Amino acid sequence: MGCTWDQSFLEKSSWKADLFKGKVAFVTGGAGTICRVQVEALVLLGCKVAIIGRNKEKTDTAAKEIAQLVGGDVVLPISGVDVREFKQLESAVNQTVQAFGRIDFVIAGAAGNFICDFNHLSANAFKSVVSIDLLGSFNTAKAAMPELIKTKGSILFVSATFHYYGVPYQSHVGAAKAGIDALSNSLAVEMGPFGVRSNCIAPGAISGTEGFDRLIGGADRKKTLSRIPLQRLGTTEDIANSTVYLFSPASSYVSGTIHIVDGGAWHVGTHFSHELYPDLLFKDPKITSKL
Ligand SMILES: NC(=O)c1ccc[n+]([C@@H]2O[C@H](COP(=O)([O-])OP(=O)(O)OC[C@H]3O[C@@H](n4cnc5c(N)ncnc54)[C@H](OP(=O)(O)O)[C@@H]3O)[C@@H](O)[C@H]2O)c1
Repeated sequence: MGCTWDQSFLEKSSWKADLFKGKVAFVTGGAGTICRVQVEALVLLGCKVAIIGRNKEKTDTAAKEIAQLVGGDVVLPISGVDVREFKQLESAVNQTVQAFGRIDFVIAGAAGNFICDFNHLSANAFKSVVSIDLLGSFNTAKAAMPELIKTKGSILFVSATFHYYGVPYQSHVGAAKAGIDALSNSLAVEMGPFGVRSNCIAPGAISGTEGFDRLIGGADRKKTLSRIPLQRLGTTEDIANSTVYLFSPASSYVSGTIHIVDGGAWHVGTHFSHELYPDLLFKDPKITSKL
């Protein structure tokens, strides 16, 4: 997908160059749409980053492109890792420490999503999303925590706002993200005495992502945007800027929070996918015939 940012980030952004010099980040889903731009920001600010995913070509290409922003071997691609498998994450943590010597920041960003109403959602489909999002986040935190304790580091879980409401067709993701929020809150309390901070970032509707395109379906975009208080979709850069803040010394007393980046949208209800509601519920004659 190419890099979203370039060197001009250092001139235009609120952050000082070298903010993260000497720091190392471990990012699951780091070649994905949102987390990739988080990685770009960290790298431009001096951080070395390991990006973790399943797909080799995608992970290698992203690592190469992001590293070119600053030059040098500053991005380590680690592919063939499924976050549902703890041992694979443990090995990825070891590879990162071998290459870069430490881990200061972790982003648990890997996730899967699809639109599905409860009547058509199989037990396996539900389990698959909960396993990637929630169990995968637990596995990531569990594997990296010994390194975070050594560096008094910080972990950031990527959550969402679906579970604040009964958003239709997202029961699987809502349940998983609610679990992630709870996990992060407990870690903030249990790991605080070890000097480790734990927070969640909850993106709203982020433009240019497959997830948002699926959720909005054929809905009228202009009408959808008008319901967001700040009158625009979020961007991957919005999420990356908040990420920089949450890892920077400016947030050294911030732990156990859910940092919502959604233009104020959740206060008026996460209405995305409502354009598909309730018609999608009645698409299967086998179900409707029983009503
Ligand atoms: N898009 C939105 O508007 C939105 C809104 C709220 C929250 N979020 C959250 O933001 C995060 C990023 O979303 P995105 O839209 O950028 O997603 P994306 O582009 O689909 O990226 C997801 C990444 O996760 C990795 N991944 C998926 N399953 C995995 C597994 N089992 N093991 C290891 N890696 C796995 C994928 O890499 P491989 O293909 O290599 O496995 C991919 O790089 C997610 O946590 C999502 O829930 C997004």
